[in-house]
Amino acid sequence: MKHILISLVLTLFGINIAVAASGDASAGKTKAATCAACHGANGIGAADNFPNLAGQHADYIVKQLKAFKNGDRNDALMAPMAAGLPEQDMADVAAYFASLPRDGASPEAAATDTGSPATAAPAAYVPDPAAGKSLYELGDASRSIAACIDCHGKEGHSEVLIYPNLANQHPEYIAKQLHNFKNKARTNYAMNQFAGAMTEDDIADMAAYFADPAAVAHIKSRKVAPSAAITDEVIAGKAKAATCAACHGNDGNSPVAIYPKLAGQNAQYLVKQLQEFKSGARKDPVMAPMAAALSDQDMQEIASYFAAQKLVTADLPSSDIGKKIYFGGDVSIKGKVTACVACHGVNGKGMPNAGFPAIAGQNEAYLKAQLLKFKQGQRDNDYNTMMQSVTSSLSASDIDELAKYMAAMK
Ligand code: HEC
Ligand code: HEC
Ligand code: HEC
Ligand code: HEC
Repeated sequence: MKHILISLVLTLFGINIAVAASGDASAGKTKAATCAACHGANGIGAADNFPNLAGQHADYIVKQLKAFKNGDRNDALMAPMAAGLPEQDMADVAAYFASLPRDGASPEAAATDTGSPATAAPAAYVPDPAAGKSLYELGDASRSIAACIDCHGKEGHSEVLIYPNLANQHPEYIAKQLHNFKNKARTNYAMNQFAGAMTEDDIADMAAYFADPAAVAHIKSRKVAPSAAITDEVIAGKAKAATCAACHGNDGNSPVAIYPKLAGQNAQYLVKQLQEFKSGARKDPVMAPMAAALSDQDMQEIASYFAAQKLVTADLPSSDIGKKIYFGGDVSIKGKVTACVACHGVNGKGMPNAGFPAIAGQNEAYLKAQLLKFKQGQRDNDYNTMMQSVTSSLSASDIDELAKYMAAMK
């Protein structure tokens, strides 16, 4: 996939780049002279605590500079640097650093790499880069840690502009930021949750992985086995889901296009929907009586069962227009629609912890019906009217193209 320009107002991540000035890399080169002391003339940080900026997404750099300037992100060194930068300068230096090669090997960096922190602290735990890789690629559902790869890309080469590249970053800096997200010194809706659930050992493993991803490239990632409690729920849920099979299929792969597939859907999201069909917060004459008969425990068990089933997808024709809108690249509706990717993810798997459903491979007719219902206010059980506001500026044909694109996503 090509890098996709996301220049919309991404409220979830607090990204406001709709009016970002476009940067001039050559002007930026001159203006970046003051940054070189720490971030290197080639964008490779001069020491472990200075992050590499070479090849980072320009929008991400601008967003961070604004955050340092307005105090959303705190750092004693960066605050004064950012405070003095007008927006145009931010855009220019960002364009300059973004233009540099991400892996720009720096001879000075090697020469200054003397004080290895490994010698400073007594190593009670020997970090395991293969464990870091597993967590990076598969996450750990039992602890609600999303797979980092879904946002930050393979080995940290992120394909979506709102997600920073982690590849070729100093491992010490990665560990430091994970700590910052964990203790909320740095705030980001998504990262605070994931880092918050990581242990000190996880963070050390992750940093060890980024020290040299190639070293463990040959090791296959290991999935964490689901906890016994979850397994019990799945077994109990299977029996209780028998009444749902007529419409949603035995394994949650509804054969009929108007019935949603439930296979592989996030359990939390499923529970929320069932509760709301029951309470009437989500209105549907077919589902209301089905949900009315279920206790909270039934709902939890059935949801665990469907979440554990494999989603069956087919090779369907996709939509380029739908893809553009999904990733926020449609200029005609720029600024009005928050890119779907911000919440439903690069692969359409949603974000379980945030209650954002998976939409990849869902039945097209169902997707279309839901988008129309949100647009017309017939479905209004979305937190903060997230989906109602997103769909309000979509035309009927935008909705058709989006449904086609999402149904074909794998
Ligand atoms: C005195 C050293 C120093 C100078 C000079 C400096 N920085 Fe930084 N910069 C840092 C440190 C330290 C951090 C990491 C802060 C943290 O840990 O959160 C940082 C972080 C950043 C980040 C965030 C990177 C990321 O991956 O999130 C950006 C962007 C940045 N600096 C841009 C600049 C620019 C542009 C300049 C020049 C105008 C500059 N810096 C000058 C020390 C410096
Ligand atoms: C749902 C998408 C998503 C997932 C999954 C995700 N991240 Fe992030 N990550 C982000 C965003 C967005 C930011 C930028 C936050 C900001 O703007 O300050 C970020 C920032 C970071 C940073 C700081 C980078 C820098 O240059 O300062 C690190 C390190 C990081 N993530 C590591 C991880 C790890 C490790 C995982 C898996 C356990 C992970 N992320 C999972 C979205 C995600
Ligand atoms: C007679 C057919 C039928 C049966 C039986 C049925 N459903 Fe449904 N289900 C539907 C329809 C139709 C919808 C879509 C409602 C809408 O348009 O909002 C739906 C939607 C759902 C949703 C929302 C999915 C999403 O992606 O938001 C869940 C969850 C669900 N059903 C669970 C169940 C469970 C659990 C059972 C068994 C206890 C069940 N259903 C039995 C027809 C059925
Ligand atoms: C700010 C976050 C956010 C953004 C941006 C967003 N969504 Fe959603 N979406 C949600 C949430 C939350 C729900 C579930 C609402 C609920 O609890 O019923 C949802 C539900 C949906 C559903 C219904 C899924 C189902 O199984 O019933 C579809 C389809 C959907 N979104 C498509 C999109 C499309 C297309 C876009 C971009 C045009 C988009 N979303 C942008 C948060 C978001």
